Amino acid sequence: MFKPVMWVRKDTQNDNMFWPSDEFKKKAWVKDESLYTEATKDPAAFWAKLAREGLEWFKEWDETYQWKPPYYKWFLNAKLNVSFNALDRHIKTWRRNKAAIIWVPEPPNEKERVLTYFDLYREVNRFASVLKSLGVKKGDRVGIYLPMIPEVQIAMLACTRIGAIHSVVFSAFSGKSLQERMVDAEAKVLVTSDGYYRRGKQINLKVEADKGVEGTSIEKVVVVKRVGLNVNMVEGRDYWWHELLENADNYCEPEPRDSEDPIFILYTSGTTGKPKGVEHHTGGYAVQAYWTTKWDFDLHDEDVFWCTADIGWITGHTYGCYGPLLVGATMLEYEGAPNHPQQDRWWSIVETYGVTVFYTAPTAIRMFMQWGENWPSKHNLDSIRILGTVGEPINEEAWLWYFNKIGGGRCPVIDTWWQTETGGTLINSLPGIGPFIPTVAGRSFPGTSHDILDETGKPVPPGEGGYLVQTSPFAPGMLRNIWKNPERYKEYFRVYGEEYYYTSDGARRWDEFGNIRLTGRVDDVMKVAGHRLSTAELENAITSHEAVVECAVVASPHDIKGEVPIAFVTLKKETEPSDQLKKELIKHVDATIGPTARPDRIIFSNELPKTRSGKIMRRILKSLVRNQPVGDTTTLMNPESVQQLKEEVGFKG
Ligand code: WTA
Repeated sequence: MFKPVMWVRKDTQNDNMFWPSDEFKKKAWVKDESLYTEATKDPAAFWAKLAREGLEWFKEWDETYQWKPPYYKWFLNAKLNVSFNALDRHIKTWRRNKAAIIWVPEPPNEKERVLTYFDLYREVNRFASVLKSLGVKKGDRVGIYLPMIPEVQIAMLACTRIGAIHSVVFSAFSGKSLQERMVDAEAKVLVTSDGYYRRGKQINLKVEADKGVEGTSIEKVVVVKRVGLNVNMVEGRDYWWHELLENADNYCEPEPRDSEDPIFILYTSGTTGKPKGVEHHTGGYAVQAYWTTKWDFDLHDEDVFWCTADIGWITGHTYGCYGPLLVGATMLEYEGAPNHPQQDRWWSIVETYGVTVFYTAPTAIRMFMQWGENWPSKHNLDSIRILGTVGEPINEEAWLWYFNKIGGGRCPVIDTWWQTETGGTLINSLPGIGPFIPTVAGRSFPGTSHDILDETGKPVPPGEGGYLVQTSPFAPGMLRNIWKNPERYKEYFRVYGEEYYYTSDGARRWDEFGNIRLTGRVDDVMKVAGHRLSTAELENAITSHEAVVECAVVASPHDIKGEVPIAFVTLKKETEPSDQLKKELIKHVDATIGPTARPDRIIFSNELPKTRSGKIMRRILKSLVRNQPVGDTTTLMNPESVQQLKEEVGFKG
């Protein structure tokens, strides 16, 4: 029988403030305030307790936390191995035969694949042995350019097992993007596949991988046969995954890693044209991944957890690989598109596999809203007990639709705020505690603290907005560096000084209990359909086309994708603007970054508005695409350019 587990508190002005029911609390890992109180009293001691309880260490730390601004360390001189914690630990228990990964291929007639913890253990050991035989050593970088197939988790854990540092690149990024990242990471080996399925099509990934390997230090390429495409294999460089595994050892000793050894690098977009390699370290990352997975999603052994994020993003790393496996959970992985063969594919998967905890992005929710509630209502979604969102601010309408149409009004919506840099979630309400308020993420995770400051560095009062910062002790899973670029790391601690990690996010202090509403990026980083992109990177890509003289990209609000890039482009004198050229520029963006970065609109203009010193005034372009007053243009070198642009854009403001 359907039982509501959530109830609305009527004694507030906010009708849409929800709290967990007593029945829900009964089962929850965290159900009362005492945990927050304990954590606040001594955050380092609190994390030490969690570290001991959650993971098995080969050697304990001498010191829990050290802070030498702008650097911090956790669990100093401790030794552990994350693959050991995600696998070896579980196969010694009843979890040995528990499903670790339920993999659902995109073609609806193809069968799912279920890997038990023992299956995963065996495959990781074998692939770790393969990596070793290819000459990969502790500290070497391994590129992983794979679609959503279990080999991606196997490859990641195999790296972790031998102490190699993986750098996963989103499979929808172009070969050129891959190459740029592999050069920076100085990778030795690349793991990729022949291809994958997307919306019923076979996508050839190996062609892009080949472009990505060119001119890098990559010596060997391992290719997973997923689709059976006829691909080019380079003699002496490329090897089939399945052939290498034939003779691989079934056991590979897990390498003891120092808590502060890097576990992986993940490239993300900053405000410059060059992506930055966010570096995470072993011990702290694993502890935060473990506890945020367990508590945010209240994961129990009988749960089926589905995080829909691609592995190429941090959400895929922490909640589509490390977190659930460290906890010993069953997780679902789906290869393809949400609308293949029809717009109810996700809900059909939820029903078939009885997914209980479902974690996705607001952009996906808005897409489903647009497709209509008939699609989810065709399926029984009663198995779901917790919903999560991540990646961008969620609007109230989408929150309520998710809560009512997917969660049947009985599941908490956990709105998790975090970043590639933070490694794991940091601001959200816990399911057994609440409150769940549309557009309000919640409080700092126990043992971490955030503040919201105004321009002058003063904390803002409740109800006011400002800039979100994190204060020491910094969360254990936070980045430790930017790969080979400490100067860029230091930028996080420059805005308000070394005491504050600056998030580049706007936020509003919701109430006096520490609840926070996030309002979006305040720098030139866009979130397009939840994907993090830099305007500068896109500008570089467009200007690298031979017909282009100059380009400025700004983000414009979008009903479904949250934000979309709009490109203002000035062409070379001899070039005629045309729709054909727009198409060509889009193709050029696909090849340079990937289709996720495609501008929503390209606007040709003879001139871009500039200051007297020649700087493009992006502020004016932003106002134009938002139909907002452009303000004072008298300080411009070319105020007449604004009039021309108004016509091009169709400005109504
Ligand atoms: C945004 C994704 C509002 C934010 C895990 C942040 C959010 C950026 C939320 C990081 C949320 C993420 N509410 N905004 N719940 N979660 N963001 O590195 O602007 O891809 O700075 O990490 O996403 O994006 P990234």
